[in-house]
Amino acid sequence: MTEQSQGPALDNLLTESRTFPPSDEFAAAANAGADMYAAADADREAFWAAQAERLHWDTKWDQVLDWSDAPFAKWFVGGKLNVAYNCVDRHVESGHGEQVAIHWEGEPGDTRTITYNDLLAQVSKTANALTELGLQAGDRVAIYMPMVPEAIFSMLACARLGLTHSVVFGGFSAEALRSRIEDAAAKLVITTDGQYRRGKPAALKPAVDEAVAQTPTIEHVLVVKRTDTEVAWTEGRDIWWNDLVDKQSDKHTPEAFDSEHPLYILYTSGTTGKPKGILHTSGGYLTQASYTHHNVFDLKPDTDVYWCTADIGWVTGHSYIVYGPLSNRVTQVVYEGTPNTPNEGRHWDIVQKYKVSIYYTAPTLIRTFMKWGKDIPAGYDLSSLRVLGSVGEPINPEAWIWYRENVGAGRAPIVDTWWQTETGAIMISPLPGVTSTKPGSAQRALPGISAKVVDDQGNEVPHGGGGYLVLDKPWPSMLRGIWGDNERYRDTYWSRFAEQGFYFAGDGAKYDNDGDIWLLGRVDDVMNVSGHRISTTEVESALVSHPTVAEAAVVGATDPTTGQGIVAFVILRGDAADGGDDAVKALRDHVAKEIGPIAKPRQVMVVPELPKTRSGKIMRRLLRDVAENRSIGDVTTLADSSVMDMISQGLNKGSED
Ligand code: WTA
Repeated sequence: MTEQSQGPALDNLLTESRTFPPSDEFAAAANAGADMYAAADADREAFWAAQAERLHWDTKWDQVLDWSDAPFAKWFVGGKLNVAYNCVDRHVESGHGEQVAIHWEGEPGDTRTITYNDLLAQVSKTANALTELGLQAGDRVAIYMPMVPEAIFSMLACARLGLTHSVVFGGFSAEALRSRIEDAAAKLVITTDGQYRRGKPAALKPAVDEAVAQTPTIEHVLVVKRTDTEVAWTEGRDIWWNDLVDKQSDKHTPEAFDSEHPLYILYTSGTTGKPKGILHTSGGYLTQASYTHHNVFDLKPDTDVYWCTADIGWVTGHSYIVYGPLSNRVTQVVYEGTPNTPNEGRHWDIVQKYKVSIYYTAPTLIRTFMKWGKDIPAGYDLSSLRVLGSVGEPINPEAWIWYRENVGAGRAPIVDTWWQTETGAIMISPLPGVTSTKPGSAQRALPGISAKVVDDQGNEVPHGGGGYLVLDKPWPSMLRGIWGDNERYRDTYWSRFAEQGFYFAGDGAKYDNDGDIWLLGRVDDVMNVSGHRISTTEVESALVSHPTVAEAAVVGATDPTTGQGIVAFVILRGDAADGGDDAVKALRDHVAKEIGPIAKPRQVMVVPELPKTRSGKIMRRLLRDVAENRSIGDVTTLADSSVMDMISQGLNKGSED
């Protein structure tokens, strides 16, 4: 890391200087109190043992943490539990079988109401079906499905049997599925005939057929009928879900597995082409997923209706739709489709209909809602909402305030939760009944978690300083490795600060003067302009704070004089000017005013859309290609690959002086 520009940039990141303490009423009733930080600091292992006690263990552990083989952790050593029992059976046994577990809302408007009794019956039948197919504890199962309840039944049935699932996002290609099946040597794929997307059925099984043609480990393809799409059929290999699962007994006795038994593999893209299979195990993972869900969202299982808008294809869907919430006996909404089907009010319609009280989404969606306009949420009764969450990227203060005012009625606390596929569960976040929230900051590590911002040498930076985010102590839900590649695990996460033994998250961060943490985006998204460190997020935040801008993405493009130059891609609001020279000049000046002349973008390009992955992350790599006049790289993970053509055509609107 080279010399940084600290003070001025940070001061200007605080485009919103108000802080928002919880109401006295919220604080008084909150699950988590301020005392938890001290309790965790006083005895970390005792603190985590107490969190693990929230689960049911068939055999209690004899050691909380074994870190002797670092960086390969073992938590709750010697303990045995069944993850699915913890998420389903015990709620039925405690008398809550009639409680709704899932209010499922299909994109076309069809619905299913699934109680814990129903969930137990379905998970048991699915487990019996998988056993009939010959699967045994330790085998891997690929799940390639849209957001239908059977996807959740499948994950839980795997957990129940000690099968390791590998969920592959339903928007990924056949090739992506193939490589993941191959890497994990999966024996079974569970899929659907098709999925609803923007009001239309789209086939899904053809991608499976293509993938498994080249994966000899696959013995069966289990197919849920969702769209009634005609599908090709391979006799002996392919099985309809209804034919196999429906006839099974709805009774199944779960077996307890070792705390370190592999629960799932989830692939995430790395800097090289080959995705990394992030491995999570059972006891520690469930402990932290459950603990964070209970405390960060303040879940009251008897009264709350929770909704996490993620897809089960991502880690957020694993930890905050399936394992965390269900372990806490949640009543939750699961929605199958897109936010603008049949219209841009769909989410608010769902909130109103089910009286959703906790809503967890991503900044990119919040900015999309901003683009659509505040009149849309204003048309619905959102008064049930009491906690709002954000995850996936830094949330710019402008979007944070918009979220608070237009969704949370200026009342609901916002928890900006930082974590990763690798961390398994939330690591840095406000506690909604404790923290005075600051728009744009994830603030501090949760009780029991330790995070630091360090410089190049691994020394913690002072308040007001910036550097790398590291996790300096092992945590229960940490990844246990990369599937089949221990070397890559060490290299990717533990080599950067090997001497100190820090896990390097790959994110840049700063402390403000109070010591609160501000995430600044991936380190490769931090630009270096004339020796000054400027985060793409800071510039984006400045741009989005201009009244004409709906959304912005900023990249650092190689510049012969300054190292990198800042190139901004902006989408203007519907009612704004057409993006002529004056509008562009105004934006460049605005950024200079907000952050300082050093941050003035070299170019501002007005574009109709930004390239995003199907999970909604902006693909800055592609924008860098455009900004550096390279031919555009691999676009296969883009949600809509025509976006790049539109952007390239918009290039001549760029302005430069
Ligand atoms: C980014 C998603 C800032 C970060 C759970 C991280 C965030 C990466 C936040 C992990 C946040 C996630 N503020 N940045 N609240 N949450 N990120 O693996 O760069 O899909 O390293 O996990 O998203 O993305 P992943």
